[in-house]
Amino acid sequence: MPIHINKTRKKYSKYIWQRNENVPLETDVTTITLQSPGATYAMAVTDDGYLLHLHWGAKVTGDLSYILFGKNPYTLAENLRDKGTFMDSVPLEFPCHGTGDYREPCIMVRDKNNASTVDLKFKGARVSPGKPKLDGLPATFSRFAVTTAEGSPGCSASACSPDCETVIITLEDDYLKLRAELIYTVFNKLDVITRSVKLTNFSEDTIYIARVLSACVDFDRSDFDMLTANGSWARERIPCRSPLHRGKQSIDSVKGESSHQSNPFFALLSHNADEDTGEAYGFNLCYSGDFFAQSEVTQHSCTRAVMGLNPFDFSWKLEPGETFTAPECVMVYSSEGLGQMSRTFHDLYRNNLIRSEWNKKLRPVLINNWEATYFNFDTDKLIAIAREAANRGIEMLVLDDGWFGHRDSDNSSLGDWVTYEKKLPGGLSKLVSEVNALGMKFGLWFEPEMVSPDSNLYRTHPEWAIHIEGRELTQSRGQYVLDFSNPAVRENIKAQMKAILDAANIEYIKWDMNRQLTEIASTYLPVERQRELRHRYVLGVYELMEWLVTAYPHILLENCSGGGARFDPGMLYFSPQIWCSDDTDAIERLKIQYGTSLCYPASCIGSHVSDCPNHTVGRITPFNTRGNVAMVGTFGYELDITKISEEDREKIPAQIAQYKKYAHIMRDGDQYRLSPGFHGISPVTMNYDAFIFVTKDKTEALLTVTQTLARPNYPPLRLRLRGLNPEAQYKTSGGEVYSGSALIQCGIEVPLSGDFDSKQVYFSKL
Ligand code: DGJ
Repeated sequence: MPIHINKTRKKYSKYIWQRNENVPLETDVTTITLQSPGATYAMAVTDDGYLLHLHWGAKVTGDLSYILFGKNPYTLAENLRDKGTFMDSVPLEFPCHGTGDYREPCIMVRDKNNASTVDLKFKGARVSPGKPKLDGLPATFSRFAVTTAEGSPGCSASACSPDCETVIITLEDDYLKLRAELIYTVFNKLDVITRSVKLTNFSEDTIYIARVLSACVDFDRSDFDMLTANGSWARERIPCRSPLHRGKQSIDSVKGESSHQSNPFFALLSHNADEDTGEAYGFNLCYSGDFFAQSEVTQHSCTRAVMGLNPFDFSWKLEPGETFTAPECVMVYSSEGLGQMSRTFHDLYRNNLIRSEWNKKLRPVLINNWEATYFNFDTDKLIAIAREAANRGIEMLVLDDGWFGHRDSDNSSLGDWVTYEKKLPGGLSKLVSEVNALGMKFGLWFEPEMVSPDSNLYRTHPEWAIHIEGRELTQSRGQYVLDFSNPAVRENIKAQMKAILDAANIEYIKWDMNRQLTEIASTYLPVERQRELRHRYVLGVYELMEWLVTAYPHILLENCSGGGARFDPGMLYFSPQIWCSDDTDAIERLKIQYGTSLCYPASCIGSHVSDCPNHTVGRITPFNTRGNVAMVGTFGYELDITKISEEDREKIPAQIAQYKKYAHIMRDGDQYRLSPGFHGISPVTMNYDAFIFVTKDKTEALLTVTQTLARPNYPPLRLRLRGLNPEAQYKTSGGEVYSGSALIQCGIEVPLSGDFDSKQVYFSKL
C-alpha cells in the first residue's frame, strides 16, 4: 500500500519546544506516509491537532516523527503561552491565517464578524484506492477507471485497480464550523503527489473564502534555485532560474488565463541540479485561470512553497452546506535532475491527464490557412490549398479565423457562429464536402468565449459581455469577453457550435482565446458574488469544453490562446494538444519548445512548418530545419502551399514520411534534453539545441540537433547521449554502429554547417 497511516501512539518524554520548565510531556503522534517508487511524503498529527509536514523527497523508510519530536518537540500541549512562536516556526501542511503563522497562508476567510482567522485541526483521515473526481475541475485520474463501465475519468473505490491511492485528511475549525478536506493522491509508478482541497461550510452563517491555495510544502532548507517558465506573446515559457533569497519570490496570473507571461509551473532545484543530477521538486497547477505560486525563505532559513488559485481579487461566498473545491496541484520529485522531473510529468500527463482518444494516436498531418491567407480567403482559395496539400500527402485542412459572420478582419463577428456566405457560398458543409472529396479531413477554428462589439450577439445581448455597468469597457483586439459564469451565455454558444458541428463533417476544432479579462463584473452574479467571476469564468469554460468532448468524443480538439497563453494541465484534460506559440520561426520555437518540455510532453505541443521569411521575426531558415523542429510536436503546415517554391513543395512528402516513421518515438518515448539550455548558457545565446527521444524499451531513439548560429574555429559538436541501453549496440540511420555505452560516455559527432542547420539521427538497437 503506498499510503500508510501510523496510528501507533508513541510516547515522548521530552521537553516541549522552547519550554522554560523541565516538565515531562507525553505526546501522541499519528503519521501519514505516502510512498512512491523513489520518493516519500510524510506528515504528522500532533496531539494538539495540527497537521505538520515531515518530509518530501528521496525515499525513506521507518517512522519519521522523530524529526518533529526529537530535540525540538513540536507541540503545544503545555506551552500555550508560546503558541504564536510555535505557529510561525513549525512546518505546516495547510497553514491558516490568523493564529500566529505570518508566512504565506493557504486559507483565509471573512466570517460573520468580518474576521479573517482560520484554525484548522485534524479530525481524521481516510484512504481509498484510485482517485476521486474534482467537481467541475480538470484533474489527473486513475487510468484504470477510464476502462470501467462508467467510461469516464474519475474512480469509484470498487472500480479502481491500485495505480494510485488517495488519502483525504479532514481538518475542521470548530469555531467557524468549516471543514477542509485535503486530498492527496500518490501514484504507484511515478514520483508524483497530487493535492487539492475541498472546503465545506457546516455553520449556519455565510463564510466568504478570501483565499484557498491547493498546496503548501514547508521545506526545512532554503538552498534552492527557483525555476519558472516566463515570457510574453510569441516567446512563451522561456526558462528562468535564480537562487532563492530571503523573502518571497512569486509568479502569478491575474489575466483570467494561465498567461503568456508565467506558466503555472515552478520547480525548486538544488543548486547543483542539472538535467541528470541533483534534486528537483516540480509544481504544476491543473488550472487555466488566475494562479499564484510562491517560494518564501523564512526567518529560520526554511522554504515555504505554495501554489493555488490566485487570492488577488478573489472572494467566494460559501453558504451553509455549500462546498468549494480548489484546483489540483501536481507535485513531482526527482533525485535525478530536471530531466527526470520532466519525464515524470510527461508520463503522468500522457497516462493520467489527457483523456482524448487521440492521446496516443498518430494525429493527421494538417495544413492551417492562418499564416497562408489570414482573413483573405474564399472557397476557391481554400480548395486550391487543399488540392495541392492533398497531392503532397497532407491529410487535413484546418480553416482558421474568418469563416463566420462578416469577418474580414479581427474587428467583427465573434459570437456570430454562422458561415460567412460571401467567402464560403453554399456554406461550410459544401466546403467540407469538397475538402473531403479530395481525401482530406476538415478542421475548424472557434473562439467561443469572445464577442465583437460589431456582432448580432452583442447587439442583442450587450449585458453578456464581462463589463461594469456605466463604465467604458476596454477593447482588446477589438473584442470583449463573454460572461461564461452565466449559463444562458454558455447555452447560446453551445447551440451555435452544435449547429455548425452537426451540419458538416468537422473532425478537428481549434479553440482559441485571444484576449484577457478587464472590468471584471457580471450582470448575472449578485453583488456579493462579483469577486467569484474570475473563477466562475474558468469553470464555465470547462463546462462548455466538457460538453464538447463528451458530445463529440472523436473530434480532435486543439486548445490555443493567442498562441500559448493557456498551455496548462487544465486544458490538457480536454485537449490532447495545445498551440504552443504564434511564433512559428524554427529557431525561436527551439527555445519555446525547450521551456514547454519542462513539464509538458511533446505529444501535446502544437507545431507547424511555416513560410519564410518568418512572419514574426523575419528569419529565413531551411525547410528541413523547420520540419525537424515542427515534428517534435503535432506536425503540420501553416503556409500557402500554392505559393512556396516548387523545391520546398517537393520536400513535403518525404518530410511527412519522416514524421510518420519517427512520430511514435517522440509521442510515447522519453525525452532527454542535451543542450546546455539554462545551465549557465542562456537559451538565447546558446548556439545549438539538441534532444533525444528514446522509446520505453530503448530499442529506438531519435536525436535532433539544430545549430542556432554557426561559430568560427570550434571543434565539431560531439554530443553525449542519454537514455540508451549502455549494454546494447545501436545502428544509426547513416549505417554506423556504436555501443550504447560509447554513445553515452563519449558521444557522437554531428556535423552541422551554417546558421540554422539541423540534423536528425535515428538509432535502432541491433
Ligand atoms: C491566435 C492564434 O494563436 C493563431 O494561430 C490564429 O488562430 C489567430 N489567433 C486567429 O485569430
